[in-house]
Amino acid sequence: MTRRTPDQARELSLLLPKLFLQFFSSTSLVLEDDTGVKAFLVGFHSADNDDVAYIHFVGVDPKLRGQGVARRLYTAFLQRAAEAGREEVRAITSPANTGSIAFHRAMGFDLEEGDREIDGLPVHSDYDGPGQDRVCFYKRIAPRAGS
Ligand SMILES: CC(C)(COP(=O)(O)OP(=O)(O)OC[C@H]1O[C@@H](n2cnc3c(N)ncnc32)[C@H](O)[C@@H]1OP(=O)(O)O)[C@@H](O)C(=O)NCCC(=O)NCCS
Repeated sequence: MTRRTPDQARELSLLLPKLFLQFFSSTSLVLEDDTGVKAFLVGFHSADNDDVAYIHFVGVDPKLRGQGVARRLYTAFLQRAAEAGREEVRAITSPANTGSIAFHRAMGFDLEEGDREIDGLPVHSDYDGPGQDRVCFYKRIAPRAGS
């Protein structure tokens, strides 16, 4: 397993300020047992676009990875989003997060065209600020009208 650098670990931890737990809990998911949180998915239904749901962050205890835990969380989120009338789910990740990219591809997400490519990946330069490039994913969860 490739270990994260301290900077990469810090970057990931900054993705979870308390506001997500305060204001997005009804669309987020947590898997826990009597020893604590084992996995979570923080996501929400867009306030600006009624068609879109967004997955902000998913994390699985390293000891539980590779067993379908994140797949189950995503499947539950996608199902609830579809039931709520959402038609598309979106997510982003850093180009360096190869595990996340492989996971989203395995979950059937497509990669949105970027303004350049890194190792064949479409990348959106400076998406989240200077030097903060991102890969953007989308997955349709409702049939297109007429199909
Ligand atoms: C990415 C992450 C959530 C995957 O969780 P997981 O529970 O191990 O994933 P699953 O076991 O449900 O895998 C589902 C599919 O994705 C694939 N996949 C998951 N992680 C993968 C990896 N690192 N490399 C290649 N494929 C991977 C699996 O092979 C599986 O495919 P399959 O169902 O076709 O066999 C987990 O590695 C993690 O918590 N990473 C750290 C946090 C992070 O980077 N989150 C994403 C950024 S928002």
